[in-house]
Amino acid sequence: MEVKGPKGTMDILPPDSEGWRRVAEKGTALFRTYGYGEIILPVMEYTEVFARGIGQGTDIVQKEMFTFTDKGGRNLTLRPEATAGVARAFVQHHLDAAGLPVKLYYQGPMFRHERPQAGRYRQFSQLGVELIGSPHPSADAEVILVCREFFALLGIEIDLVLNSVGDATCRPAYVEALREYLEKSKKTRCEDCGRRAVENPLRVLDCKVEGCAGIIAGAPGLEGFLCEACREHYQEVEKLLVAASVSFRRDDRLVRGLDYYTRTVFEFQDPQAGAQNALAAGGRYDNLVEELGGKPTPATGFSIGMERVMLAEPRLEEGEDAGVYVMAIGDAARGKAFVTSYRLRCAGIRTDLDHLCRSPKAQMREADRGGFTLSVIIGEEEMAAGCFTLRDMREGTQERVEESDLAETVKGRLERR
Ligand code: HAM
Repeated sequence: MEVKGPKGTMDILPPDSEGWRRVAEKGTALFRTYGYGEIILPVMEYTEVFARGIGQGTDIVQKEMFTFTDKGGRNLTLRPEATAGVARAFVQHHLDAAGLPVKLYYQGPMFRHERPQAGRYRQFSQLGVELIGSPHPSADAEVILVCREFFALLGIEIDLVLNSVGDATCRPAYVEALREYLEKSKKTRCEDCGRRAVENPLRVLDCKVEGCAGIIAGAPGLEGFLCEACREHYQEVEKLLVAASVSFRRDDRLVRGLDYYTRTVFEFQDPQAGAQNALAAGGRYDNLVEELGGKPTPATGFSIGMERVMLAEPRLEEGEDAGVYVMAIGDAARGKAFVTSYRLRCAGIRTDLDHLCRSPKAQMREADRGGFTLSVIIGEEEMAAGCFTLRDMREGTQERVEESDLAETVKGRLERR
């Protein structure tokens, strides 16, 4: 029987994995520039971290978690997102002790039992940042800027959509108004929205079922319900974004699929993509740290979906395919080729050689296929003279190089390109 990977997962193979690595490295280098340090978290947490953090009434917690009981009878869940885990670690390790704010970034796989489609998987990868400990609009504006800069670096066009979901003072009145409004849509809404309308009406606003689109479009917006403090906070975020020349659109029905958000929420959407158009999303979550047992600590952050970024075809500079292929002409040269490639690799040069005893012509083809820009040729003549022939694969030119100078000469030729 042919064994396949689990539904909704994918294998990322070379050379695609090279593009992935470079995109992720661009992101993490950018995050460090903005003062974020990496946090490496377990991919599983006790289930209650997500149930309490993300919210019992969310689709993620109700339907999408990979949850299991371990041999000790503990209830564990593969993380569907990382923010709750970051907040858990923040509380557990008293990260506030060294002063606030604490700025963290992470990368890695997340797991949600969703129906797979283009841009939606059961295992997917996120890059994200969390700025913990500041209630100020400048923190919201900073994380939005970091995220926008990431897309700018990759030449990906995105629309920034922004909103405020208010706080415990003003949101209840909005939720009530929404509940009342949803009473009228009993016949047309989907089954899930029937449940949501009762348990958690805000979740109706991010229903993706076609039949519910009209209901969402006619729903009251959040803007008119915000209290003075939330309104001012939101306006200040907008002001800072305008000052930084960031363009955005307000959608006052934008809410997010996780319950921990307060005030600012945002999405970076791909204008070309279909249903799964959010390439990144985030917002403020002022109650999450307290919810997980810490002191009241305001926070904000975002996560980028790597698979969706890759589908948007990020622009990367010419690949780093430079390197050298060591060719043995004749069996007598194979041992020499083996040791020579080892020495070149020790010098930090990307090097490969033939392991299938191929003909010189076939080795030349392999060098081409691997994107090597130089080859070192070792034949009888070279063995007798104690030197090598270095060939520039693109120009077709060749030169003789002494064995002792080989690594330095190769490095020099590669840098010149
Ligand atoms: P989220 O909106 O659930 O937010 O996910 C963030 C991003 O992850 C989405 O915009 C999307 O690009 C990607 N994503 C989500 N689900 C899938 C999936 N099934 N397949 C592929 N990509 C997916 C969060 O996760 C929050 N933790 C964001 C945050 C950080 N808020 C504050 N800090």
